[in-house]
This record gives sequence, structure tokens and C-alpha cells, in this order.
Amino acid sequence: MTSHEAVREVEGRLGEAGVPSPLVDAELLVAHVLGVSRTGVYAADGALGGEQLARLRKLVARRRAREPLAYVLGEWGFRRLVLTVDARALVPRPETEVVVERCLVHLREQEGPRVLDVGTGSGAIALAIADEHPGARVVAVDRADEALALAGENLARTGLAGRVELRRGDLLDGLKGPFDLVVSNPPYVSAFEYDSLQPEIRLYEPYDAVVGEGVWEEMARDARGVLPAGGRLVLECGDGQAAEVAEGLAALGYDEVLCTPDLAGRDRAVEARRP
Ligand SMILES: C[S@@+](CC[C@H](N)C(=O)[O-])C[C@H]1O[C@@H](n2cnc3c(N)ncnc32)[C@H](O)[C@@H]1O
Repeated sequence: MTSHEAVREVEGRLGEAGVPSPLVDAELLVAHVLGVSRTGVYAADGALGGEQLARLRKLVARRRAREPLAYVLGEWGFRRLVLTVDARALVPRPETEVVVERCLVHLREQEGPRVLDVGTGSGAIALAIADEHPGARVVAVDRADEALALAGENLARTGLAGRVELRRGDLLDGLKGPFDLVVSNPPYVSAFEYDSLQPEIRLYEPYDAVVGEGVWEEMARDARGVLPAGGRLVLECGDGQAAEVAEGLAALGYDEVLCTPDLAGRDRAVEARRP
């Protein structure tokens, strides 16, 4: 079977299973097995070997069972980094790249800012900030041991050890600060909404990384104790939640509240300044 034939066949098999973007996923799975880029699939000629086909079949079976593509591939791009991803933590999302962008805007004038990432999961936000602001010193907290183990692997993989400190903890408990910026992508899906989520999330991503109500509010309350005057809080929120989060931050005494849309035009990052 040639790589082109493999893409067509895998696209069909994924489509039958209800995978939302079967062609893109097929291209990425065939590329992964061949060890080439997605576009490289079409440049490659020749047949897939028996061992490659066997590996491809196993990966396709996992994707047909609606395991997230990122978990099947085992790694995923986030900003300038490629991170190891698996069921120990949420797959880093494109909207979270916008959250990182907003953090970097506030940090760029500061030489050695102290940053706190609450609920770090794979380490995506903390590592991207350390990578793109070489002076930043980042503390990254999560209460899940499995997530912290994965973040530790990503810390080693990205060569950022020494720049990011990983800590086990519940929100901001025990953290003294000061931190010039506190950032978080907290769990923000209600238990009610959870059943309507796509199988990739419900069946594979950690429940505690996805479901949570009012977590942002508790964090915003506590963050006032570690942010100096002028320090920033940057939060990711769910689609449709930005107005409520923005109003809540103002009610907690923050000013300069601003919402930023993701690439789909939906407000997903809400930031504010401690006066
Ligand atoms: C939505 S995920 C975000 C992961 C990562 N920051 C990202 O953006 O891809 C939320 C993370 O918060 C962690 N978490 C949930 N409740 C927490 C709490 N009370 N204290 C610390 N971490 C918490 C979860 O274990 C999970 O890793």
C-alpha cells in the first residue's frame, strides 16, 4: 500500500467511526508512522512496510475508539514547543496559546518576572512562558500527581529545567508570592454540560481537568494575596463565560479587565490588574 492509498483508506475508516476531521487525522497518522511531516506524506512514494502497516492499524484502531489524536500520536505542538501528551493531563488547546500570548504581552517589559501557573497539567502554559521569556521564573502547581509527572517529563524534554519549578498543591494554598503574574486554565465545564461533550474528552481526558465550577473565582480571590499592585491575573474560560468572569473580577476589586478572543472569535481569555 502506498502512502496515498493509506491516507485514503484511513480517512474512510475514521470517517465511519464519526471522527470529525478524518482526512487531517489520516494524514497525521500516516505521517507519524512514516516519520515525515503531514505534507511529506504526499511527497513520499513507495509502499508502507509490513511493520509500518501494523503500527498504523493499531493507531487507527485507537483513533476509531475516539481517543484524542494527540494521545494517539503521543506528542503535540504548543506554541514553539512539542510536548509529550497522554491521558495524565489535558491536551493543550489552541485557545490556551492565546492565553500565553496575553501573559507575554504583560511580561515583555520585565526582566525577571515571577509567574505562577495554577493547574499546569502537561506544563504547557508554564513551559511556553519560560521558553518565550528567557528571564521569567515560573512556579507551576497542580494537585494531580499524574499531571505533575507528565509536566516533569516535559520540563526535561524542553530543556527548561531550572526555569520552571513544579509543585503539588491545591490552587494557591501555601504559596507566598509575590508573583508579577498569575495565569490559569482552570477546569470550567459544569457537571451538567459534561455529558454533551465529545467522546474524546469524556472517555479519555482527566475528569478533574475538565469539570469545575467557580474554580476561577476562588483563584481570583486568592491571587489578590500574591499579586503586587499592578500585577496581572490571566484566566482561560469556557465559551460564553467571559462576561461573567470579567464582571466577577471587577467585583473582586481588579481593574483593567480585558477579554481576548480565540482564533474562532470567541472570548476565551480574561485578564485583569490588581490595583
Ligand atoms: C483545564 S486543565 C489545564 C491544563 C494546562 N494548564 C493546559 O492549559 O493545558 C486544569 C488542570 O488543573 C488541575 N486542577 C484542578 N483543580 C485544581 C486545584 N484545586 N488545584 C490545583 N490544580 C487543580 C487539574 O489537575 C488539571 O491539570
